Amino acid sequence: MKHLNLPARVKLVEVGPRDGLQNEKQMVPASVKIELVHRLQAAGLKEIEVTSFVSPKWVPQMADNAEVMAGINRLAGVRYSVLTPNLQGFDAALLTHPNEIVVFGSASEAFSQKNINCSMAESIERFAPVVAAARAAGIYVRGAMSCTVGCPYEGEVSPDRVSYLAGLMKGIGVQHVGVADTIGVGTPLKVQRAMEATLKHFDINEVSGHFHDTYGQALVNTLICLQMGIWQFDASVAGLGGCPYAKGATGNVATEDVVYLLHGMGIDTGIDLDKLIDAGQFISDFLGRPTNARAGKALFNKRNS
Ligand code: HMG
Ligand code: MG
Repeated sequence: MKHLNLPARVKLVEVGPRDGLQNEKQMVPASVKIELVHRLQAAGLKEIEVTSFVSPKWVPQMADNAEVMAGINRLAGVRYSVLTPNLQGFDAALLTHPNEIVVFGSASEAFSQKNINCSMAESIERFAPVVAAARAAGIYVRGAMSCTVGCPYEGEVSPDRVSYLAGLMKGIGVQHVGVADTIGVGTPLKVQRAMEATLKHFDINEVSGHFHDTYGQALVNTLICLQMGIWQFDASVAGLGGCPYAKGATGNVATEDVVYLLHGMGIDTGIDLDKLIDAGQFISDFLGRPTNARAGKALFNKRNS
């Protein structure tokens, strides 16, 4: 029944605690973030992006990064990652023992300036010592590549820019890259082209998709990646998310919806969808608004009817 070209198993990286919450105006206490991580790992998520070590002036919601990392009861077999834009962030992150760090660059110059206050070239200069220090410490290094199909300031972004950034990331020793549609404008063929540009520099096992769902395209963009053999994706419980420097962009694709899609196609994720829906309900209740997960909402309503 399973389509021959689709992967048999998919790894989902849960970015809700980081990407999902970073843009929330109301401060979410560390205890709630920790509880969310606990619920996500109980649901079977094996990789969780917990927080970011960025300037608290730029992103106040992530100022409790060390407290959150320290409060998690870590489960064997679960990997905990954090964002580190520079050595200052990396040094602080190192004390909290992440399994993986994420440097984050942009395929568009304007977004690089707005998000991390430097050019693409300068960002790579900043990342290089971070990557070297992380690898020397035995910490896996992922690179997030923003605006790989569209930029809120520059409009459409060409695959050449994506290939250029991927090559720079590879050149400084980044081990895996996430191809991000930061503002969710991509459609399948554009996303495929961004992926192909990335695959010029990284193996298929070193590439993941990170799709915001602003225009409702994230699931079809995921599907075309699956058909290309890509088997790693970021997703955010309850569809939370958005970047403070990408105005108008809404949340990431909801983890519940991706799990529903994958399980419906016979693809294994190791995730218990019922428990995941509970985790989504927990954070939605705290935030005081309904979940953005479509399958999550439907299954929750069905369960309670
Ligand atoms: P800067 O102002 O250029 O840095 O910021 P600076 O080195 O000139 O330092 C200025 C001040 O920031 C100093 O403090 C530093 O100590 C402090 P002051 O002396 O003024 O009191 N500082 C820091 N504090 C804590 N941790 C640090 C740190 N670095 C400097 N690591 C910086 C540069 C990158 C820090 C800043 O621009 C920043 O924090 N930006 C936040 C970017 C961010 O978090 N964006 C959201 C995450 S990315 C994303 O969501 C996209 C993604 O999901 C993929 C996608 O969807 O596209 C990954
Ligand atoms: Mg994002």
